Amino acid sequence: MAKQTIEDLDLRNLEGRVVLVRADFNVPLDEEGRVSDDTRLRSTLPTLNVLVSAGARVVVLSHLGRPGGKIEPALSLAPVAEQLSSLMKGTVEFCRETVGLEAEAARSNLEAGALLLLENTRFHPEETANDPQWAASLAEGAYAFVNDAFGTAHRAHASTAGVARAIRSRGGVAVAGLLMALELRFLSDALADPVRPFVAVLGGAKISGKIDVIDALLPRVDRLIIGGAMANTFLMALDLEVGDSLVEEDRVDVARDVLAKGGDKVLLPVDVVVAADITEASVTRTVPREAVQPGDRIGDIGPESSALFSRVLASAGTVVWNGPMGVFEMPPFARGTLELARSAAAAADAGKMVIVGGGDSAAAAESAGVTDRLTHISTGGGAALQLLAGGELPGVVSLNDRTEVS
Ligand code: 3PG
Repeated sequence: MAKQTIEDLDLRNLEGRVVLVRADFNVPLDEEGRVSDDTRLRSTLPTLNVLVSAGARVVVLSHLGRPGGKIEPALSLAPVAEQLSSLMKGTVEFCRETVGLEAEAARSNLEAGALLLLENTRFHPEETANDPQWAASLAEGAYAFVNDAFGTAHRAHASTAGVARAIRSRGGVAVAGLLMALELRFLSDALADPVRPFVAVLGGAKISGKIDVIDALLPRVDRLIIGGAMANTFLMALDLEVGDSLVEEDRVDVARDVLAKGGDKVLLPVDVVVAADITEASVTRTVPREAVQPGDRIGDIGPESSALFSRVLASAGTVVWNGPMGVFEMPPFARGTLELARSAAAAADAGKMVIVGGGDSAAAAESAGVTDRLTHISTGGGAALQLLAGGELPGVVSLNDRTEVS
């Protein structure tokens, strides 16, 4: 990786010094306000443990949800601090301020080897505006900045890119954490020269959110599998009936263009699961894609498609998967996505590199019980897509280059 990581820091220098960490603790909360999936917390533990063990005074920043620059008590990081504390088997201090007198006091009282989580950065409008002064106040007194928030690295915010600049402008270092480095190794380095055949599987609802990814991947992959509601727009581009299915009519030309450019590389579902409505109790039919009727709604790929996609995955050298094949959170339409997760896991068992990005695909892998078998499941959705689309991540660009002497 072209950027410095925590492994480039001389840990002996950290004892008693404030190290600012940006984590992505944007985790789901249940109805009681407790953390319902702590994957992102557990993924950041290696970085936090290294810093704590080095005796650093670790100050952690994160956002939670999208409170729009205002204080929203339901989006406080307090429950996250509680869960983190139980995962770290030690006290995690929490401060109900991000900046201000209380936050300053909490920082200065922090002992060596202790960890302080500050309140949701997005309670302040300066965060998403990447206000340089506000970023400088976050960076105040910190010896180094460690960005471990891969999931938020595609945002140029004060607590991601801004603090890195602020710390570096006064001679400090800004480096990637262990999670960030791991994510970049899989989603950037490994895919730069993939073992072939290189197969990408894209699903989910919208072409519009993924067209840059399709454009960037098409020349690089050997096969591009398209499923999910996104595939409906492609079926329409083939002049097939899609009934009342979700389609982006304004993207049919885009889909036609992809099919023309991609030729045999692009694989679409050959059969689909349809119903009059997409509900938990839908009565479904499985039909060839040519047999969809007016009024039908496509909710999943059919078993022939699953078998076809499974064969392609079995012969792949590298697989990258983002997005479900259907409305997998509803049992009548879950089979296609779960099958795909199982095929991806079988490919990984056979030694292929299988990289999964995006919260929905990760959740599908979890439901299929295959999480531990996949090569890498990314903690970032948008950030992973931005990398796959060939874009840069502001949270990474702002870190010290490997070639710089620190
Ligand atoms: C995510 O969950 O994708 C990241 O935490 C980024 O969140 P955002 O889309 O609200 O910026």
